Amino acid sequence: MSAPQNTNPAAEMRTKRVLIGATGSVASIKVPLLAKSIIAQGHDKNMQIEIAIAASNSALHFFRQEQLPEENVTLYTDKDEWAKWKKIGDPVLHIELRKWADICVVAPLDANTMAKVANGFCDNMLTCVLRAWDMSKPRVVCPAMNPMMWEHPITDAQLVVLRDQLGFHVVSPISKGLACGDVGMGAMAEPEVIAKVVVEQLVAADLSTAATNGVDVSETKTTEP
Ligand SMILES: Cc1cc2nc3c(=O)[nH]c(=O)nc-3n(C[C@H](O)[C@H](O)[C@H](O)COP(=O)(O)O)c2cc1C
Repeated sequence: MSAPQNTNPAAEMRTKRVLIGATGSVASIKVPLLAKSIIAQGHDKNMQIEIAIAASNSALHFFRQEQLPEENVTLYTDKDEWAKWKKIGDPVLHIELRKWADICVVAPLDANTMAKVANGFCDNMLTCVLRAWDMSKPRVVCPAMNPMMWEHPITDAQLVVLRDQLGFHVVSPISKGLACGDVGMGAMAEPEVIAKVVVEQLVAADLSTAATNGVDVSETKTTEP
């Protein structure tokens, strides 16, 4: 028996909001590609993806607004946080972003921001969003640093906190020749790989919400009419 035909696939599209955190690793040159890849892979899973990018001041050295997709992608910086708040009652950007997003992915996560997040520091817009994060929503980090930084003993200790205590899904770095000339473990995972993890996490969160709400997920997945 054949599967029921969907006469209007567009009607099935679900809007999903992704917050990309970008930090001062050279791997931030791949942020535009990551945004495109998440949009494309989300589309393949019937998701209309909207993206907000929360960039640290250091991250802004590595990509430009013009490199980002024109539609459905908005770049926010520390300047925006304070430009949008003038008086009591005005929206606080890092809280608005936390409420808005269905998932956050910090890609790249540099050594500095890794240390800050693992220790609860929040001295810029991105780390404020992460410190205020709603722990019922998925969160992903993609470390990127020099091999010696990666192998430093403090890295392991902070990764344990991020993964086991704070519930981040860690996309491990890969080994290759780095921009600094060193070769070894520490380069950010490829954008396509990170995008796949993000979309998988969004699908998993949907299934979990459906189960909590008592929706029989097995029925919605059946191919039988
Ligand atoms: C050209 C350049 C490349 C850098 N690449 C990295 C990197 O890949 N990983 C890292 O942890 N730090 C890297 N840094 C250092 C960070 O930019 C620095 O620690 C900065 O303070 C991070 O700030 P942020 O965490 O607020 O973005 C790099 C610095 C420069 C100048």
